[in-house]
Amino acid sequence: MKIGIAADHGGFELKEYLKKFLEDEGYAITDYGAYSLNPDDDYPDFVIPLAKAVSEKKMDKGIAICGSGVGAAIAANKIKGIRAALINDHFSAHQGVEDDNMNMLCLGGRVTASSAAEEYTMAFLLAVFSGLARHKRRLKKIADLEK
Ligand code: RB5
Repeated sequence: MKIGIAADHGGFELKEYLKKFLEDEGYAITDYGAYSLNPDDDYPDFVIPLAKAVSEKKMDKGIAICGSGVGAAIAANKIKGIRAALINDHFSAHQGVEDDNMNMLCLGGRVTASSAAEEYTMAFLLAVFSGLARHKRRLKKIADLEK
């Protein structure tokens, strides 16, 4: 599975932590930046390239982190084909994939502890879309907005 990760200064520390955690778990991670901590950087500059890569199927799933995770989710969801959500609990991390085919996980680097972030990330990565008709029907109503 190809996984991309991105963060601004608010999520930089958690990105670095999660990248190492996931690499240690055997995942290949593509880092869309930031590549150093710059308090003046802007999350769209990193989250949007990642969201485009997920949308274009260059990445299977994306993880976007800013201070709260809110800006990352707002930015990612502007890209066609992206279903991103800010996740602060384990249930939503997997159910968001199973029911809603969530393809980007957004986290708050100033909100979510590293151990919780590990748990949410693994739940997100291991979950699979159910493909049930009722979920496809709901997702089609959202995808139709993008036409
Ligand atoms: C940047 O300071 C902060 O606003 C950003 O990381 C994020 O929290 C936005 O939602």
